[in-house]
Amino acid sequence: MKIETLAVHAGRQVDPTTGAITPPIQMSTTYERDVDGGYSRSYSYTRPDNPTRRSLEICLAQLEGAADAVCFSSGAAATMAVFSLLKPGDHVLAPRECYYGTRQLLKEYLSGWGVRSDFIDMPDLRQLDEHLRPTTRLIWIETPCNPTLKVTDIRAVAQRAESVGALLVCDNTFPTPVLQRPLAIGADLVVHSSTKYFGGHSDVMGGAVLTRDSTRAAAVRQYQAVGGAVPSPFDCWLIRRSLATLPLRVRSQSASALEVASFLSKHAGIERVCYPGLETDPGHAVAREQMAGFGAMVSMCVRGDARSAMAVAARTRIFMRATSLGGVESLVEHRASVEERRYADAAEPAAPVDRTREPSGSHRGPGPGAADVGGNLSAAHDPARAHSRTNVTLSRTRCSRMRPVFDLYLVCGDPGRLSRSSGSWWRA
Ligand SMILES: Cc1ncc(COP(=O)(O)O)c(C=O)c1O
Repeated sequence: MKIETLAVHAGRQVDPTTGAITPPIQMSTTYERDVDGGYSRSYSYTRPDNPTRRSLEICLAQLEGAADAVCFSSGAAATMAVFSLLKPGDHVLAPRECYYGTRQLLKEYLSGWGVRSDFIDMPDLRQLDEHLRPTTRLIWIETPCNPTLKVTDIRAVAQRAESVGALLVCDNTFPTPVLQRPLAIGADLVVHSSTKYFGGHSDVMGGAVLTRDSTRAAAVRQYQAVGGAVPSPFDCWLIRRSLATLPLRVRSQSASALEVASFLSKHAGIERVCYPGLETDPGHAVAREQMAGFGAMVSMCVRGDARSAMAVAARTRIFMRATSLGGVESLVEHRASVEERRYADAAEPAAPVDRTREPSGSHRGPGPGAADVGGNLSAAHDPARAHSRTNVTLSRTRCSRMRPVFDLYLVCGDPGRLSRSSGSWWRA
């Protein structure tokens, strides 16, 4: 069945009592027992299971081609549930560049419980080979990764994980199953921040763990039932509702991002664009092989320094200055000023220090476009004017100390294409 059809129908049924087409939200926390004390209708208490959550889980499992899905109250809670499968003495390999919260969980919490983690440049398979150990129990990948959009070869890592009996876990938040299905090409588990494209409207938090085999799903579900990081029925309902338009949103936003990235790659004010859809991108060949599109996130290095990058962020139109991604809004973020505090002590920070990130929304048809990006980058390079328009301050010295790269992170979000001809999203 096509993913568009699954996104509408999977896990949904007409309400048997009322005939309602739209599923109800089942808010009850507790369920009636049978006269013999059993629960023949499946549900007992909402922490272990809930009908609205179950409907979302069935849909997500079908979209990802998984045996089962377990939904959580956030992406971070889903990540933690996967780490609950580890034991003292286990070794983890994780990317140096991935969502910073994942690194933080491994570095600051799992390390205290006897789990040792090494952070490597995951796309570099030689590094992976050098760091694999007999005790490696889990390899975490995120592809394309947050925030540098580097691409990891899922099949190649899966072979190596299998060779030492480690689980391969892929954070598939950025591409979503619309563009990439890691379980079909060797991953054992997939993790999502449903807060992003699944929710799709920047108004609900959630997470999900999807597994290739149902035994592992049962272990994750058991951890959830005991640990309790469950999403509310209303949040599950909102996410399930948004999934119906997931393929349309992701494809549209992705097409828009390609246009934006192409435009920026030719712009004199931009030093470097990181986007796997560009033929010049180091991850392009692998991305072509394992993705059905390149996603709606674009990273770039603005020529100049941190202030230049901040100035660009300060002057964009359409793109709003905010964190997160996957909603219908286009966002721009100076990512390094978020992550530098967390990595100030690290020998090598995860993100280039002067990174700004822009999520892009779905831009198809008339709407803001790459031309919208192109307005006036040189004006954006005037730091004095820029800082009068933003309340973010940044010490150039502090940033430059960490890595001499100056980047913006773009999230393309708006329905409609970010084209050059439809107005300016850079300040004109
Ligand atoms: C790739 C990725 N994974 C996981 C998370 C964590 O998700 P949440 O914020 O829903 O806890 C994020 C958040 O930005 C993310 O970008």
